[in-house]
Amino acid sequence: MRSDANIAGPMTDPVPGPRTESTGEDVSRETPPPMDDTPIGRAAQLAVEALGRAGEGLPRPEQTRVIVVANQKGGVGKTTTTVNLAASLALHGGRVLVVDLDPQGNASTALGIDHHAEVPSIYDVLVESKPLADVVQPVPDVEGLFCAPATIDLAGAEIELVSLVARESRLQRAIQSYEQPLDYILIDCPPSLGLLTVNALVAGQEVLIPIQCEYYALEGLGQLLRNVDLVRGHLNPALHVSTVLLTMYDGRTRLASQVAEEVRNHFGDEVLRTSIPRSVRISEAPSYGQTVLTYDPGSSGALSYLEAARELALRGVGVRYDPTQAHLGVQNNPSMVEGMQ
Ligand SMILES: Nc1ncnc2c1ncn2[C@@H]1O[C@H](COP(=O)(O)OP(=O)(O)O)[C@@H](O)[C@H]1O
Ligand SMILES: [Mg+2]
Repeated sequence: MRSDANIAGPMTDPVPGPRTESTGEDVSRETPPPMDDTPIGRAAQLAVEALGRAGEGLPRPEQTRVIVVANQKGGVGKTTTTVNLAASLALHGGRVLVVDLDPQGNASTALGIDHHAEVPSIYDVLVESKPLADVVQPVPDVEGLFCAPATIDLAGAEIELVSLVARESRLQRAIQSYEQPLDYILIDCPPSLGLLTVNALVAGQEVLIPIQCEYYALEGLGQLLRNVDLVRGHLNPALHVSTVLLTMYDGRTRLASQVAEEVRNHFGDEVLRTSIPRSVRISEAPSYGQTVLTYDPGSSGALSYLEAARELALRGVGVRYDPTQAHLGVQNNPSMVEGMQ
């Protein structure tokens, strides 16, 4: 984990490209420039530049931000948000690890990471106490992005963990012993509130709740919030809900704007100004083992995740997000920055 405060300059160098610091064996990047050596990596980098943010740079957090992406409802955009925000933060110049904590392994798939049964995975970390560094793989095509994959073994972990010592804090321990420098760790939770999700809540400081703009969007969230309170009270005093992200937002429907208003009334400042539009490109990307950032870097889905990542990064260092500074393509799309027009 990184704890070297304030060494960081902007997350993005004036000339976009890899950071050149030596970072250890398996992720050494002393020989640049990996970002440019694949067509999709190049295209994604161009999208970041097109946002006009590359020269300006994003601040890096003083310490590794461990963000738990949770909502016990399935299909609300947890995995999609985890992988696309992670890729966006990496394209902005951060070093980012995705921990796939869902036995379905959808985040691993979307990042193009091999996760068949024999691959060393987060199961080995949680149940067999394998070091996290032994299972982390670099994500192809996105410099600075890494993944700890989930295999189908993880389906049994929920039961196997019950009888192990420190069953709630095994992921926390693994992350604390991980020595590679990281700006962000994003944990993709399964759609339940069992021991896997509890491990994530104990390991993180922040909870990010993706909310799909549909009926009953808030239903069931009380249970998640109670769990957050319980974990904060007993196991992890630093834990808090830092971020709510509206997903699959369709600005043409009244329902979506009503739900968005309801969520904003309920959560207030935690809700990001940027919301993610419903986008075919976003839903197509995982079947190519890609995030939307490399699959279609210029699409509204890619731009909105880049913008959401910018907002997340700025909030992390206490800078107030100004939507009038958003990229034009985002400004012109009211579904991405609501209430601007
Ligand atoms: N903004 C979006 N536009 C269109 N489809 C989306 C969007 N976000 C997610 N999806 C699709 O919705 C489904 C559920 O999303 P997913 O991220 O897997 O949810 P969860 O991880 O919460 O179960 C997936 O098929 C995904 O591709
Ligand atoms: Mg998922």
